[in-house]
Amino acid sequence: MYIETYGCQMNMADTEIVLSIMHDAGFVRTDFLSSADVALINTCAVRENAEQRIVGRLGDFNHYRKSNPNVVIGVLGCMAERVRRNLMVSEDFVDLIVGPDEYRKLPALVEAAMEGEKGIAVKLSRVEKYDDIIPLRTDDLSAWISIMRGCDKFCTFCVVPFTRGRERSRSQANVLKEVEEVAQRGFKEVTLLGQNVNSYWDGTYDFPDLLAATANVDQSLRIRFMTSHPQNMSDKLIGTIASRTNICNYIHLPVQSGSDRILKLMNRTYTADHYLNLVRRIKEAIPEISLSTDIITGFPTETEEDHKQTLDLLQAVEYDGAYTFKYSPRENTKAWSMGDDVPEEVKNRRLSEVIDIQRNISLQRNRTMVGQTVEVLVEGPSKKSAADFCGRTDTNKMVVFPKNGDAVGDYIGIHIERANSATLFGTQEHIFHQPPAFITRES
Ligand code: SAH
Ligand code: SF4
Ligand code: F3S
Repeated sequence: MYIETYGCQMNMADTEIVLSIMHDAGFVRTDFLSSADVALINTCAVRENAEQRIVGRLGDFNHYRKSNPNVVIGVLGCMAERVRRNLMVSEDFVDLIVGPDEYRKLPALVEAAMEGEKGIAVKLSRVEKYDDIIPLRTDDLSAWISIMRGCDKFCTFCVVPFTRGRERSRSQANVLKEVEEVAQRGFKEVTLLGQNVNSYWDGTYDFPDLLAATANVDQSLRIRFMTSHPQNMSDKLIGTIASRTNICNYIHLPVQSGSDRILKLMNRTYTADHYLNLVRRIKEAIPEISLSTDIITGFPTETEEDHKQTLDLLQAVEYDGAYTFKYSPRENTKAWSMGDDVPEEVKNRRLSEVIDIQRNISLQRNRTMVGQTVEVLVEGPSKKSAADFCGRTDTNKMVVFPKNGDAVGDYIGIHIERANSATLFGTQEHIFHQPPAFITRES
């Protein structure tokens, strides 16, 4: 079997669950479509262009089928859940449509498809958490661990509550078992995942409890988490992040807009002031914190004034980075009925204004790192030069540096010499011995 993954980290984590289920049923993974008997694509539906890319890629799968007529082609994930049977109508070569809560059925569906029977399984569940399935990990340094599934927030622009269903959390004991397992296997980083990771609640423990317990498993394991919703960013959580050296000083805290009027239409449940106050409390408790956000431009009825408030908020927060999107109407969401009245060229212009301002802020933020020594977890060769390695700081900044006896998985001290808006560049000062001293804290 061959599988390709699109969309968010939760989809990456789901692919590892799919790999595990298929492996247990006797399927062997190939990295090449050209040698696959089963070709799967785990999809995203969050924006129109995400779906267009997937349709384009399915065209390649169909092309492959011409020379390999027996290949089974399956569409998994959020687009499968959203478009359902219609996907088999528009792409008539697709054999299987399987939504995020039905992956246990995959082996049986694939075997039926091999006999020529098409299959659809798109029921959403209130209980499925794949708790008993040990993901077949595709990386040996950094482990994704989904701690919850679904989303109950119903932001009016968003398709996720419809593609992933109701929110449900795994038990703390179960998550910790998985953390212990990856720690024993020598992983260096764990990322706890959920669409609203900080609304985690297993009936006894909340997210700060789980985060603290995860940090206790192994001091040399870096703990990350995403995505946090501003509504659930409690002082207890801020205190937990501040109090543990191995919980990374990085929070992805999407704001979406700086206009209260738009935030209300989006059903984001906070005002710009509330958000700015939250940021102030975070920065007070954790001065070295790195923050990132998601921004949508051109939401229905967005005016120049609304847009300006978004730009002002970017300046006020000084994020380290931002993921920026043009509003894309999604059928059946509340915002769908609000129309899509901001013209494409206005959306484009506002988007580039957001990007320009943020690039400048990121550059200023990164330049303050020049002259400092930061602790980096070495991830692998740099994409641009074979002589260089890359790795990340605990604040999630990418650092590129010449290879110098260090190896993937080492924690090393890098003296930062220059920076652009996306990357820091430096040279090695020393290799740490376990457990790492998180020197970014001390400097
Ligand atoms: N659970 C996360 C986000 C998941 S989707 C959260 O609440 O922040 C990732 C991002 O995609 C969102 O933060 C939003 O900025 C963007 N997005 C979602 N739906 C969108 C749409 N219809 N049009 C444009 N961007 C969208
Ligand atoms: Fe979508 Fe909002 Fe849920 Fe995030 S919190 S997944 S944006 S509905
Ligand atoms: Fe996309 Fe589904 Fe993730 S819509 S962003 S893959 S939850």
